[in-house]
Amino acid sequence: MRKNIVAGNWKMNTSLQEGVQLAKEVNESLKSFKANCDVVIAAPFTHLASINAEIDKNLLGLGAENCADHVSGAYTGEVSAAMVASTGANYVILGHSERRQYYGETSETLKTKIGLALENGLTPIFCIGEVLEQREEGVHFDVVKSQIEDALFELSAEDFGKIILAYEPVWAIGTGKTATDEQAQEMHAFIRRVIADKYGKDVADNTSILYGGSCKPSNAAQLFAKPDVDGGLIGGASLKADSFIDIVKAF
Ligand code: 13P
Repeated sequence: MRKNIVAGNWKMNTSLQEGVQLAKEVNESLKSFKANCDVVIAAPFTHLASINAEIDKNLLGLGAENCADHVSGAYTGEVSAAMVASTGANYVILGHSERRQYYGETSETLKTKIGLALENGLTPIFCIGEVLEQREEGVHFDVVKSQIEDALFELSAEDFGKIILAYEPVWAIGTGKTATDEQAQEMHAFIRRVIADKYGKDVADNTSILYGGSCKPSNAAQLFAKPDVDGGLIGGASLKADSFIDIVKAF
């Protein structure tokens, strides 16, 4: 059966020293109780190797926030999936709305990145979600379906089974405006049906679908109680160990 997961996305925050400190605090807290879910932190590339050396990977998974859409070579400033894997990280967030919006990531580039992540043994946390105008126009289901189909549906069922999905309505990211638990459940159930139609019920039932967008200690338990919400991808509230751990304890 699918896993429950709470993953932090630190985005472009923390110095190396602050990031290592934060990871150590999260790791220390996780020693003090038995989490009822997998816990992952996704940190800037510069932090990965140092964090990897400080954490117990049985308690805390580690991921990057992106990787390149090429194997290696003359792509100044890019970081490949193989480089990410060589730090000890096991996860990579791909297709975050901030990357789609500010760095022009398309389903075509994401398809390549997903393939490279899988080839290098990384678990992709693949983000999907509509912007406010799309929800207001009532096309949010179509948008999310296309994002999944265009980037993922050439994968074999076996490879699809390695992907974690994160539904992040863009209007809820960093705005303090969370989707209601009903809105999250409605979309997550829809996503699971889209997967079932393509890969069958078993694959769909085994896919973890996380919710992201202003998820915090005060609303996490209600969101996670929904049958198709398998955890959260946490931005702002993952930057303090206490609030991140409180969200982990919502399971
Ligand atoms: P916030 O939790 O800050 O809204 O960010 C969500 C997010 O984008 C996680 O990837």
